[in-house]
Amino acid sequence: EMNQLATNGISRCPIDHSAFGHVQSNGKPVSANGCPVSGRAAAFDPFSNDYLQNPPEYVRWAREEEPVFFSPKLGYWIVTRYEDVKAVFRDNKTFSPSIALEKITPTSDEANAILATYDYGMSRTLVNEDEPAHMARRRLLIEPFTPEALKHHEPMVRKLAREYVDRFINDGRADLVNQMLWEVPLTVALHFLGVPEEDMDMLRKYSIAHTVNTWGRPSPEEQLKVAHAVGNFWQLAGKILEKMRQDPDGPGWMRYGIRLQKDHPDIITDSYLHSMMMAGIVAAHETTAHGTANALKILLEHPDAWQEICEDPSLIPNAVEECLRHNGSIAAWRRLVTCDTKIGDVELPAGSKLLMVSSSANHDERKFEDADNFDIRRENASEQLTFGYGSHQCMGKNLARMELQIFLEEFTRRLPHMRLAEQTFHYLPNTSFRGPEHLWVEWDPAQNPERKNPGILDLQAPLRLGEPSASAISRPVVVQEAKIIAEDILKLKLISPDGKPLPRWTPGAHIDIECGDTGISRQYSLCSDPADTACLEIAILKDPASRGGSAWLHENIRQGDRVRIRGPRNHFRMDPSAERVIFIAGGIGITPISAMAREAKLRGIDYEIHYSGRSKASMSFLDELEALHGNRLHVYAKDEGNRNDFARLLGTPDEKTQIYACGPERMLEGLAQCCENWPEDALHVEHFHSVLGELDPSKEQAFEVELKDSGITLTVAADQTLLQALQGANIDVQSDCCEGLCGSCEVRVLQGDIDHRDVVLTRSEKEENGKMMSCCSRSAKGEKLVLEL
Ligand code: HEM
Ligand code: FES
Repeated sequence: EMNQLATNGISRCPIDHSAFGHVQSNGKPVSANGCPVSGRAAAFDPFSNDYLQNPPEYVRWAREEEPVFFSPKLGYWIVTRYEDVKAVFRDNKTFSPSIALEKITPTSDEANAILATYDYGMSRTLVNEDEPAHMARRRLLIEPFTPEALKHHEPMVRKLAREYVDRFINDGRADLVNQMLWEVPLTVALHFLGVPEEDMDMLRKYSIAHTVNTWGRPSPEEQLKVAHAVGNFWQLAGKILEKMRQDPDGPGWMRYGIRLQKDHPDIITDSYLHSMMMAGIVAAHETTAHGTANALKILLEHPDAWQEICEDPSLIPNAVEECLRHNGSIAAWRRLVTCDTKIGDVELPAGSKLLMVSSSANHDERKFEDADNFDIRRENASEQLTFGYGSHQCMGKNLARMELQIFLEEFTRRLPHMRLAEQTFHYLPNTSFRGPEHLWVEWDPAQNPERKNPGILDLQAPLRLGEPSASAISRPVVVQEAKIIAEDILKLKLISPDGKPLPRWTPGAHIDIECGDTGISRQYSLCSDPADTACLEIAILKDPASRGGSAWLHENIRQGDRVRIRGPRNHFRMDPSAERVIFIAGGIGITPISAMAREAKLRGIDYEIHYSGRSKASMSFLDELEALHGNRLHVYAKDEGNRNDFARLLGTPDEKTQIYACGPERMLEGLAQCCENWPEDALHVEHFHSVLGELDPSKEQAFEVELKDSGITLTVAADQTLLQALQGANIDVQSDCCEGLCGSCEVRVLQGDIDHRDVVLTRSEKEENGKMMSCCSRSAKGEKLVLEL
């Protein structure tokens, strides 16, 4: 019965199965005749107000209990979890995108007849094209979307944002959707495409009609109106195209395609160009208009987050990602199953249609910690699926990101005092394109900052093209205490400025602290108690060989100061299942070790600490450590003639013992030698300094990488890192340190030998050849690598 429902598109299962109390072996309700559609699945209605207001909340039950279910009302299978949605995006042969722009509600013969009078022939573009035609086209057409090529649009976007805000800045009240957020993205889209500015209101009307036609459920009367609008849109697109063909050397992406048609007529077809002209206008503007309205709405609903980006615009790029994750403008996307397959443990016959609720995937706890929480500093926010993923991933994502950043920057600088007005939000009933129809905001124009200080109009935060970098996510803290606790060792106790809890961390974690405006920042391990979220403590040794960082901090930081930190991040995690641990610390290396030893004690692990230093006066935390650890602590002060004899301490390798060490580089080298006979991976050391030198192109080889999910092959030049090559080709990969220290740029390797240059992976992980750090590691023999990207 399931198969029939799926393939025949029968639209209603008349039985409320939950009422019968029948249950399958997996606990899901079954109807009396064995139909596995649960009551909640039967009730699923993506045109209902509950879905429109908050799609991820509406399918929470499914994400938790029935992640892939059949909706009899829609005739689609609904996919709700992150990994499942990503797996579908990853495989566009099993899951064809061909139905992406199909009418989700079949229309009446009468409506179809109207469309036919306009010669309506919307066909394959990119988003709904199968392989191999799709990639051939995408490869030809992607260049104008790369970060490099997008740069020159920035002034145009800034100018438009400025002019539109000028129009209402003194009004005290505005509907941002009507007064700016539709027209500016539409204008940008037209510029990008190279389309002369047409009648904006008409194009807006047409776009909405297209959305209703494709993803909505118009009533029979509406269907007729929509058919006329869509038909007119189609004809207009044809006329614009004809005009462009007479002047093919002009600007814009559509003419770029027209020019390519000469050499590639079988790839850039007439049907493609006409369809893309219409679809492109929608793809490029409606998504971004809704995206900005959603972003502003959720930011203003979280005044703390709003205030933070007003005070620190460097947080905007990541905030944009979090807005797209939490409240994105594409709520769901479609695929067609081409052969019998499975998603999770649900069997899907060929011909099944899928509605992937990407907005639900973006709220999946399995992927995003505390997923419903809106956190502008979330480090994996850019792994959201609002732009899709893989070979069809949104080509315009970096233009959209640019627009969102610039709009937010303009608003936070000029209208930081703006707030949401009382209102009820309405959404156009459809499965996919989601944004409020109006967004009313208000403010007191007398408080407009530019009245007092016109100079703010000239400020500009640097634009971040492409995916944001975790290294830009900083936060302010206040120095509650600054105290010398041993020779040349300054301990700082940091608290949040607003009394809110600081982020959680685990022993071994560090923070980066910025040295005022010097542009320098330094990493220090946290040594306080992780259970205490009110403060973070670090200890800073004034290093005579310092490049300026530690000396600056010693000389300048005083109690009550405000400083900026990044993190906490942990590259030095303790294995909580360890039975026995030997901690070895040299000098200031005691900081992470003290936090780890406290954890070991709490967990009841058998441990000992070996702590050495020049003299007891130079060693911090001695009293505290002694009080907490008693005779598990062994102290070696050089000036008293004591030194830690590694050869003796580690003479007999022991399977059950792990060693965690932090200290001067020379100490760590000595230790590594003494551990040669230990099981590999027994020794864990904290590296603060990269072992990477500058990339020397004369010593490097270029190599190729094939990106399995994206369907492209790139060359990594000798003077380039893999990460740079990926980012240059619009592939999102997270990064932070860019020195092989932090692990955030890890990519999975499916094939090829790797030359590992990071200090993140363990020896055995390196030997497995299954992953690599893209910021530094390369192909071992200059041969091609195949990556899961
Ligand atoms: C494809 C979302 C802005 C051009 C897509 C897809 C989604 C999407 C979900 C399908 C992905 C897949 O099947 O894996 C968005 C969102 C945007 C946005 C949320 C704004 C916030 C733009 C802009 C442009 C654009 C500004 C153009 C200037 C395209 C194109 C494709 C696409 C050409 C087809 C790519 C292919 O199939 O190879 N977009 N988009 N988009 N988008 Fe966007
Ligand atoms: Fe930190 Fe690559 S970005 S290891």
